Amino acid sequence: MASAIVRGGVLTGFVRTIETPCPWRRESVCQGESDRNARQSLGLARLGLGKDWMQFFIDTADVEEIRDLAATGLVDGITTNPSLVAKSGRDFFDVLQEICAIVPGPVSAEVTATEFDTMLAEGKALAKLAPNIAVKVPLTPDGLKTCKALSDAGTKVNVTLCFSAAQALLAAKAGASYISPFVGRLDDISSDGMDLIADIVTIYDAYPDFRTEVLVASVRHPMHVVEAAKMGAHVATLPPNVLRAMFRHPLTDKGLAAFLDDWAKTGQSILERNGKSDDAEPERRSA
Ligand code: E4P
Repeated sequence: MASAIVRGGVLTGFVRTIETPCPWRRESVCQGESDRNARQSLGLARLGLGKDWMQFFIDTADVEEIRDLAATGLVDGITTNPSLVAKSGRDFFDVLQEICAIVPGPVSAEVTATEFDTMLAEGKALAKLAPNIAVKVPLTPDGLKTCKALSDAGTKVNVTLCFSAAQALLAAKAGASYISPFVGRLDDISSDGMDLIADIVTIYDAYPDFRTEVLVASVRHPMHVVEAAKMGAHVATLPPNVLRAMFRHPLTDKGLAAFLDDWAKTGQSILERNGKSDDAEPERRSA
């Protein structure tokens, strides 16, 4: 359920309240219909995104993987990090320019300096590479100072290596376009990564003027994505194998095999009838 927040007699937003048990294990966020509607109208709309669907980014610097997955039409952006660039074995700038030409959505490119002046210079250099670059900075005091400076100048900034709600709050105040909480790395140390997503979504929803999108990172399996979607996270960045795994279900394979076997027994073809191509019979299609 959502409760209205009224400030000075003006409706400024909604916060979620727990009136019924949530259908899944996280009780801090309730997914009632009114809650979902509240987030869509006051959450996504307030972000000015014009999107009411979850965006999928791919977390890789492997250009061939990106080309292959972008062909599905399901990829909205890309995230890279220094480890992924190192794994590609290629020149950072070449890789980024290639990726930016393949995917029109945001492409995160991470700075590698740790002190403000150099981080800012690196961020400006990366932003010049392509109009769809989002500069990625780590969640440190210098990183957030850089985030503020770049965001004020109109550059999209993705604040990475977020492991707490307090850090996410700071990133939103610094004007980040994206906050990247690392769910898998939290799970690795026996802390529930998805609880952090629930906390951040709740906090951001409570303040309509925060314009930061929750970008779920360090995703390890499809259920991370499904849980993030139930919570209304704006973006998930998926390793290529996770996006591929989301397509698969053994019953889909089994069902399709049975349909195709049965169809083969009929000896028919959708595109050819009596040995003639379907193009030869336009009147039959329009009849
Ligand atoms: C996000 O932008 C990071 O590149 C990434 O999700 C880190 O994931 P990992 O924990 O699998 O390295």
